[in-house]
Amino acid sequence: MIINNDVAKKLKKDFPIFKNNPKLIYLDNGATTQKPNRVINTIKEFYEKYNANVARGFYKQSQIAMEQYQNARRIVAKFINAEAEEIIFTHNATDSINSVAYAIESIIPEGRDEIVLTEMEHHSNLIPWQQLAFRSGFKLKFIKIKDDFTLDLQDAQEKITKKTAIVSLTHVSNSLGTINPVEEIVKIAKSLGVLTLIDATQSVPHMKVDVGKIGSDFLVFSGHKMLGPTGVGVLYGKRELLEKMQPFNFGGGMIKSVSKESSEFADLPEKFEAGTPNIAGAVALAEAITYIDKIGVDNIHRWESELMKYLIESLKKVGDIVLYNVGLKNTSGILSFNIKGIHAHDVASILDSYDVAVRAGHHCCMPLMKRLGIPGTVRASFYFYNTYEDIDKFVEAVKKTKEKFGR
Ligand code: ALA
Repeated sequence: MIINNDVAKKLKKDFPIFKNNPKLIYLDNGATTQKPNRVINTIKEFYEKYNANVARGFYKQSQIAMEQYQNARRIVAKFINAEAEEIIFTHNATDSINSVAYAIESIIPEGRDEIVLTEMEHHSNLIPWQQLAFRSGFKLKFIKIKDDFTLDLQDAQEKITKKTAIVSLTHVSNSLGTINPVEEIVKIAKSLGVLTLIDATQSVPHMKVDVGKIGSDFLVFSGHKMLGPTGVGVLYGKRELLEKMQPFNFGGGMIKSVSKESSEFADLPEKFEAGTPNIAGAVALAEAITYIDKIGVDNIHRWESELMKYLIESLKKVGDIVLYNVGLKNTSGILSFNIKGIHAHDVASILDSYDVAVRAGHHCCMPLMKRLGIPGTVRASFYFYNTYEDIDKFVEAVKKTKEKFGR
């Protein structure tokens, strides 16, 4: 089933939010996606039929809950071509990155004291590293972005050296939509023995992500940006590294044996999942993935690219629009723009009066905004249920916004 406008309209019917808010033009999928019935029902069903704690009970109900939880892990793993033991459930991508920023201290070789990021990182892939830098005296370096909103690969070559401990970068920029050449950067890092983390929060829901192909040591994403509930995220790590790393959260569920003085930790993945996990969240995320998989991520990416082409053409006709866009070949379903002379917050507020939901501001990327020399942008971000009609209404609202400001 190739997604076209009719299919997108049909898929939209799976999402009760649109039935309950028939006027809503939802273009803030980069912030969080809406949830289909089957995900909402999975959460309800879990609590109604299967609820029990995992890994602690010798009774049937607990074993059923455990089986569902482990099955969720297998579904997530398969989706990104990983092994189930390499999938750690966290709260969200931010939590996953924080966890790595703590845990890798135990495996960074002597003499490597630099962290390489890019100028387009979300704060979630910046502040945990700043904190590591404060704790350990490491230096932060940033791969520059060029004026066409792509990464400067020459600069990447220069900044990643034998002194680098880790390169951590976003796969798709949440502000610009740029798809970064992560395989190329991982290759540069690997040739120098440098660890790598890919923030795949804005890519996993929208395009094929294969950890084997990318080759990074870690990869993180959030469940709620891919139809899943809030409060569940994923940390993928290569088995041999996760085995070597010290856990960063301690308590029940992550041990083999405990004495008053010390403890022996459990094997993967439990070693990194202290405390009761978000069981229903993980099971619902797996349901979301099953649904996305049925539609097909390549299909989703292609449809979002078609919508993007249409949006860019339509917005250009409005006039006085500044686009912060890398060009169709390298973009995902995210478009940042400004109307000349009008603050992004004002634009978003007026768009809201036409029932259009977009994000505006710095998008948790203050250093990027500084680099672009602007306080912020208006950002429209798609998912597969968006249609040409959504875009028409959005563009019409942008026109009216412009008129309101006498432009
Ligand atoms: N990271 C989310 C966004 O970009 C919240 O909107």
